[in-house]
Amino acid sequence: MSQPVKREGSGTKTVFTLNTGAKMPGVGLGTWQSKPNEVREAVKSALQAGYRHIDTALAYGNEAEVGQGIKDSGVPREQIWVTTKLDNPWHKRVKEGIASSLKDLQLDYVDLYLMHWPSSSVPEDLKKHYDDWNFTDTWAEMQKLLETGQAKNIGVSNFVISNLEKLLNDPKTKVVPAVNQIELHPNMPSPKTIEYCKSKNIHCTAYSCLGSTDSPLSKDKTLLKVAEEVGKTPQQVLLQWGLARDTSVIPKSVTASRIKGNFELDGWSLSPEQVKALSSIPDRFKVCGHDWLPVKVFFNEEGDAPEGVPSH
Ligand SMILES: NC(=O)c1ccc[n+]([C@@H]2O[C@H](COP(=O)([O-])OP(=O)(O)OC[C@H]3O[C@@H](n4cnc5c(N)ncnc54)[C@H](OP(=O)(O)O)[C@@H]3O)[C@@H](O)[C@H]2O)c1
Repeated sequence: MSQPVKREGSGTKTVFTLNTGAKMPGVGLGTWQSKPNEVREAVKSALQAGYRHIDTALAYGNEAEVGQGIKDSGVPREQIWVTTKLDNPWHKRVKEGIASSLKDLQLDYVDLYLMHWPSSSVPEDLKKHYDDWNFTDTWAEMQKLLETGQAKNIGVSNFVISNLEKLLNDPKTKVVPAVNQIELHPNMPSPKTIEYCKSKNIHCTAYSCLGSTDSPLSKDKTLLKVAEEVGKTPQQVLLQWGLARDTSVIPKSVTASRIKGNFELDGWSLSPEQVKALSSIPDRFKVCGHDWLPVKVFFNEEGDAPEGVPSH
């Protein structure tokens, strides 16, 4: 069962119908690096400001607070899209991984469960990869979660084309990932990966869509020029650019005014020329590299390897 991804609406009303038929809001709140005691309030503020999509991960160590923020908001569970992710040292313990996330989030199910990285790291030594296991085995286990109902949709993250090919061509793979969540912003636009995913009915979500913390992107002269033309903040422009490319966007903020501002995307849009200008920014910058993992996951297919590309 895999149908082409469809898009409806614009701005904060953008909804992507995934290859499973599920409808995912196009704008969500990111929560990576959101400090304890900040993320609960951020999630509550976002939901009260109208966000209906929250992105978290077991690895962020904040699922319990995210769950509390969801409760505090008073927004009914069924109106919220919740994404969380299986952490690398949990690849052989998929059932336990999702049980831990659901317990902390105080939820019965997540709308989307992602394999955070294509790296099956040994829990006792995170610099080691299992000899007898890889991400295709993890995916085979994740597929079972659809039967239990604990995950309504499953997907991957940080998958480049070659790893997607490996996954899709594996005989154990019965389910096409609904989503590939990858780093996407004008300094890392990866058009070939987006095109490849589209050809396989996989929706792309843009992470670090603002260029992440202390982003050099926010000072880019093309971005500032477009922001001035439309009379919006550089961050609002980056979010519209992401939506214009048919990717969902999950900006992170713990600042109430920014959370609200990042959701003011209705009633205006970028012209095709402005989208093209932003897509043509030549500088390359990568937020998330793979040096901390036991395996390479980026292979310079689109200038996406850390070698030669500055990253945090
Ligand atoms: N799958 C993965 O491997 C992966 C990797 C990275 C990220 N992600 C997901 O993607 C989300 C977003 O990526 P990200 O956290 O790397 O970075 P981001 O959303 O691109 O940028 C976040 C940074 O921008 C600041 N910011 C937000 N809105 C702003 C505004 N209107 N004006 C000025 N600054 C603003 C935030 O500051 P304040 O918070 O201080 O306001 C924060 O420092 C993450 O939170 C996470 O959920 C996933």
